[in-house]
Amino acid sequence: MSYYIGIDLGTSAMKLLLMDEGGRIHRTVSREYPLEFPRAGWSQQKPEDWRRALLEGIPELLAGVDASSVKGIGCGGQMHGLVVLDEKDQVIRPAILWNDGRTARQVDYLNNEIGKERLSELTANIAFAGFTAPKILWMRENEPENFAKIAKIMLPKDYINYILTGVHACDYSDASGMLLLDVEHKCWSREMLKICGIHERQMPKLYESYECIGTVVPEMADQLGIPCEVKVAAGAGDNAAAAVGTGVVGDGGCNISLGTSGTVFISSENFGVDKHNALHAFAHADGGYHLMGCMLSAASCNKWLMEDILKTSDYSAEQDAIAQEKLGENHVFFLPYLMGERSPINDTNARGTFIGMTLDTTRADLVQAVLEGVAFAIRDSVQVARSLGIEINSSKVCGGGAKSELWKKIFANVLGIELQCPESEQGPGMGGAMLAMVACGEYRDVKAVCDSLVRVASVVKPEPELAEKYEKRYQQFKKIYPAVKALFPEIQ
Ligand code: XUL
Repeated sequence: MSYYIGIDLGTSAMKLLLMDEGGRIHRTVSREYPLEFPRAGWSQQKPEDWRRALLEGIPELLAGVDASSVKGIGCGGQMHGLVVLDEKDQVIRPAILWNDGRTARQVDYLNNEIGKERLSELTANIAFAGFTAPKILWMRENEPENFAKIAKIMLPKDYINYILTGVHACDYSDASGMLLLDVEHKCWSREMLKICGIHERQMPKLYESYECIGTVVPEMADQLGIPCEVKVAAGAGDNAAAAVGTGVVGDGGCNISLGTSGTVFISSENFGVDKHNALHAFAHADGGYHLMGCMLSAASCNKWLMEDILKTSDYSAEQDAIAQEKLGENHVFFLPYLMGERSPINDTNARGTFIGMTLDTTRADLVQAVLEGVAFAIRDSVQVARSLGIEINSSKVCGGGAKSELWKKIFANVLGIELQCPESEQGPGMGGAMLAMVACGEYRDVKAVCDSLVRVASVVKPEPELAEKYEKRYQQFKKIYPAVKALFPEIQ
């Protein structure tokens, strides 16, 4: 038997899984770490915390297992985060994450001075606050001493791969979200590097996600208790890895991920750009491309309401209190913009909003409004894709939020599509392990590993009457943000 380790370097935790070559998951381990919000709308994490999670997580994952059977490791990681290393490969400052909103000024500069059209020609994308290039500009302006020390720029999962192998590498799917990659031609854009005041020697070497970047360095192999022959795949951004984990590769597949962020991911064999750049045009981990809409707070809205506001960890009890006949009938709405929003409104000032309460509004109505608000906001991105002529009639679904049957029912009816639920909701970890299998030659390519290992366990279909009710509610939801948008900058 051969084992493969899949790592999901998430925002709230690192989730590791041990899978055999037949796709059976033998064990999962999760290690949480803190998220720092030094100011409202800023979001950082210490790469040292990721490192600790890795060093503790792998030995726990392998306890009692014949570690000589471990053949490969693959990581799907939170995208866009800026990790900077000095010339001794020491981390210079905490990583600035994908949901950080501090770069509004730099985003304005890029989109208005350099111009959206030029950015799109160079990178297939425009600037969003969470992307890496605006963060580099922010560092140059606000932390010139730190900026001067930068020897290497990396993304979060590339730091994990560096710890394992000593190699500075990045794959095309994750690199796409830096706004530094010429996505169509899969090379760094010299002009973008120049705009950000950096040089190609500071950038990692580029790989396809399923390529092997190296083997585990001996002292790390010792510490982790694994052979140093273990191969490490380049890995992927978490959304591309999740799409592999749910079998969304090749042309026209769709995956919805309900993690801290919420994404709609549409795979394609050919390069293509949304002409309004509302959806991201990125490379995929299967060697092709994808379009993606990303909302910044999805399952995190529910987590916030449950844990921070209602002070409970019993999510099921809260959802059980929602009466089935209340679905599609809720007069309370929630705008899920707790960290500002990316797709499709691109507004760092947007904020979470409850609207429509009356004296008879219940706790359950608010819980329901949050679940529905996230589904409506995902529908906003689905609508953009539909306006490009992309047909979405069904989708895979993964992420922590996909554990809730109620939430999946709301999604299927708000989107009017069938949701196919794979056996495991652990998209990025599964995808990471599957990419490692291809890197080790266990499977010919990414499609082959998906065909062989991904199985749909259940399907949630929309119900015509309920979908119709949700259609009306969505049309109402759509009017709320434009009506309150102007207030957000004022009330901060
Ligand atoms: C995608 C994005 C998020 C993070 C979350 O563009 O920013 O989905 O990758 O981990």
